[in-house]
Amino acid sequence: MASADFSLRFKQWVWRAASKSAIGRYALHQRFGVPAANLERDVFGMHFTSPVGLAAGFDRDGEMIDAMAAAGFGFVEIGSVTPKPQRVERGDENLILLKGDKALIYRADIESAGVEKVIENIKQHRSRIVVGCSIVKNSKTPPEEAAVEYLRLFRPLYQYVDYFTVNVCCNTTSEPYVPASKQELMAILAPLFDFRRGQNQYCPILLKISPDLTDEQIDDMTDIMLDTPLDGIVACGGTIGRHGLQKSASQMHSIGRTHGAMCGRPLKNRAIEVVRRIYSRSKGTYPIIGCGGISTPDDVFEMLQAGATLVQIGSEFIYGGGESLRNIHLGVDERLRKAEQRAAAEQANAEQDDSERATTGQSEASQRVEPSDGSVSDTAAK
Ligand SMILES: Cc1cc2nc3c(=O)[nH]c(=O)nc-3n(C[C@H](O)[C@H](O)[C@H](O)COP(=O)(O)O)c2cc1C
Repeated sequence: MASADFSLRFKQWVWRAASKSAIGRYALHQRFGVPAANLERDVFGMHFTSPVGLAAGFDRDGEMIDAMAAAGFGFVEIGSVTPKPQRVERGDENLILLKGDKALIYRADIESAGVEKVIENIKQHRSRIVVGCSIVKNSKTPPEEAAVEYLRLFRPLYQYVDYFTVNVCCNTTSEPYVPASKQELMAILAPLFDFRRGQNQYCPILLKISPDLTDEQIDDMTDIMLDTPLDGIVACGGTIGRHGLQKSASQMHSIGRTHGAMCGRPLKNRAIEVVRRIYSRSKGTYPIIGCGGISTPDDVFEMLQAGATLVQIGSEFIYGGGESLRNIHLGVDERLRKAEQRAAAEQANAEQDDSERATTGQSEASQRVEPSDGSVSDTAAK
């Protein structure tokens, strides 16, 4: 049986091929597209055809943007991109599917063609979809040189993407890189803000955080957003936790499923909790991209209700492909239409109540018109 790693690579190959072919893009649009005006929204001054985007990790090298647009994603986050190419040994243990849990564990380094090749790829895309780019340092680069590497990515990519996500939740290997102190993060972000200040075009910068942060650390991240020119937060990446699975955390450890980032359905509640916390501390003043375990239209709504402005799907897309995206879009569209109809009916009822009250008021008043001689006459009786 093909390993999960092989099967993911095969799916990516198919999407890549479809992206390059006009017939492929047409077929994707016909098969999965859900044109619905009420899915559209404007965030960061940009137009999104849907609030549902593709999470980082599936199209790391920016080769499938047109295919994702054709299938109906509202935006695509490519990457994470590293400065130098970073290859990963193929291996059955790189990706483990936990099908019963609708989860997966990703346990390999981030594989990237490197920034130069990614720029070449981005230049090829033709669709008008919003393209975000997740950036991360090469895994061998020591943390003290991280800031230089993020800037090395940010500068050349700046003119080619619509927003950046600074990935600071790399926990997919046994040597995780998850800087979480304000000081470490500001060392990375400040040079990016400085560079952006000198540019004509404004490109939003978001921070992608880990669901394993403590509440205090999440508050720190939110405060960075409130106190600096950071534009938003992507919450969250995968977790090193092993909760919410059919097997207990200790069983997972005993079969060696210890390291690596777990994504998919078991992550949903935590991701929603993190989004709610950021939203409440920032009083809804900044966009949040909600990500983690979203697999149904109801999940999208729950995430939006918790305070997310946009959402991303990762594992659900790996499991269900374009069909999952279509089902999510159909469900969200239907719920939005029902909500609109309910609001319109409530409005009509309220207007009817007002006009009835006004009519009753008028007739009551008309029954008590004071004639000019000062006596009260019953006009309604006339
Ligand atoms: C196979 C795989 C690769 C991923 N690679 C990246 C990556 O390169 N950069 C990143 O920021 N997140 C990466 N992620 C995390 C996803 O973007 C997302 O945050 C996470 O999977 C949670 O969403 P989900 O539950 O919908 O999958 C990856 C996830 C998976 C499953």
